[in-house]
Amino acid sequence: MQHKGFTLWFTGLSGAGKSTVANLIGERLKKGGAKVETLDGDVVRTNLSKGLGFSKKDRDENIRRIGFVCNLLSRNGVVAIAAAISPYAAIRNEVRRAAENFVEVYVECPLDALIARDPKGLYKKALAGEIANFTGVSDPYEAPENPEVRFNSSECSAEEAAGKIWRYLLEKGLLSA
Ligand code: ADX
Repeated sequence: MQHKGFTLWFTGLSGAGKSTVANLIGERLKKGGAKVETLDGDVVRTNLSKGLGFSKKDRDENIRRIGFVCNLLSRNGVVAIAAAISPYAAIRNEVRRAAENFVEVYVECPLDALIARDPKGLYKKALAGEIANFTGVSDPYEAPENPEVRFNSSECSAEEAAGKIWRYLLEKGLLSA
């Protein structure tokens, strides 16, 4: 398998399945021999973005940092995978403009499904007012208008979603058999 350096940028609400699908496709790419690095919001916030909160300013800073690292990696032939809510369109587009090969993946999921799943119990807390500025509940999420790939995680499996992304990468020549 041959591949170019590119950034696979997952965006979507907390719990929508960004990390699950990012990890699945990351593993699949590695099995094919690709060099892959994943920047997951939850992990990045414990090191690279430690100390940042959830104001618009801090979220934008978090995304700018993740985007910067993705660009360093992808220009060296690595597949950089980002999985952060990245709720603001302007900063996502700023990262896109700076990137050579940018693939935005919108992980859609209706709020009621997220509230029903709620593995971390965060939606319950946000709805009870115990977490302020929670994306989708008390903070905005600006959905991408023209993502390269989109899927609804309440309607398809992680495997199906990864398959859709894989097909897109082949079609665009970012991957080849
Ligand atoms: S982003 O907005 O800056 O892109 P990021 O993906 O890094 O967010 O972090 C989101 C994760 O932080 C969520 O999955 C959740 O576990 C946690 N979190 C804690 N507080 C909030 C909040 N107010 N809004 C959204 N997520 C939050």
